[in-house]
Amino acid sequence: MNDNVAAVAGLAPPSDDRTGVSSAPWDKVQIMERGLLSGKVAVVTGAASGIGAAVVDRFLGEGARVIAVDVTEQRQDRPDVLVITGDVAEALTWRRIAEAARAEFGRLDVLYSNASVVVRAPAHELAEEAWDRQIAVNLTATYLAVNACVGLLRENGGSVVLSSSVHALVGLPGHPAYAAAKGGLVSLGRQLAVEYGPEVRVNTVLPGPILTPAWDGIGEEDRRRSAAATAAARFGRPDEVAAAVTFLACGESSYVTGACLVVDGGWTAVKDSA
Ligand SMILES: NC(=O)c1ccc[n+]([C@@H]2O[C@H](COP(=O)([O-])OP(=O)(O)OC[C@H]3O[C@@H](n4cnc5c(N)ncnc54)[C@H](O)[C@@H]3O)[C@@H](O)[C@H]2O)c1
Repeated sequence: MNDNVAAVAGLAPPSDDRTGVSSAPWDKVQIMERGLLSGKVAVVTGAASGIGAAVVDRFLGEGARVIAVDVTEQRQDRPDVLVITGDVAEALTWRRIAEAARAEFGRLDVLYSNASVVVRAPAHELAEEAWDRQIAVNLTATYLAVNACVGLLRENGGSVVLSSSVHALVGLPGHPAYAAAKGGLVSLGRQLAVEYGPEVRVNTVLPGPILTPAWDGIGEEDRRRSAAATAAARFGRPDEVAAAVTFLACGESSYVTGACLVVDGGWTAVKDSA
């Protein structure tokens, strides 16, 4: 066991008690913004929090203009950000987004479908409405997005990035609808890549434990165990997922489509992580 694993496992004092952030060299990599999305227009859903908010920041830093969508009100006063408040599980929201992209920017180049909800309960205790809601927000919303936006995305060569999860790869108790939706996104991403290539590339990111407000209700011990179960020996940061999303969104990944990119610090590579 290396020092970092020992730290997050509670055998040595971690440098940051909340995140289990280790002092390994990769932890503090500085991201260099290079105008990778200069001139592009991107939709980001779930933009008010966590990974979505980090992707908005990174896309702006790379020169994109961003349509930031969330069901929660957002306080955004930055230029180059157009806020839309709406539920991604409703077709009307996607019609508003497509119309705004056309009217305000005249184009749409990138779609990052990221908004999500999770209700933790085993299938025999999960209410049908909770099942339906998780499938609607976590899976059906991407169909609605493509249905409304693919015409725009095709015009200039588009890139769609879907936000799945390691829950698509392994079973974890208490997540039946979430896992079904995230697994569905992996197949949907492949399907869309075949359907809309060559004009539109479609790829899927599968994050592992990333410290965001989604972890607020999860106890310290469970957090520590999740961080310790990664080869990186820590939680991931939202900006580390944003880096992967940016790669898939921009021309650096021009020959990558129908692919899955796991961003989990090696969580799925560690034998006894699940
Ligand atoms: N954080 C992790 O450890 C982790 C791990 C694997 C996958 N993911 C995935 O990454 C993505 C982002 O996760 P996060 O941790 O940043 O979550 P988060 O809870 O911090 O943010 C999710 C955002 O989605 C918004 N949202 C929820 N329902 C919506 C709706 N119907 N319409 C519009 N917006 C809605 C919320 O208001 C919130 O701002 C999700 O798809 C999640 O499943 C996260």
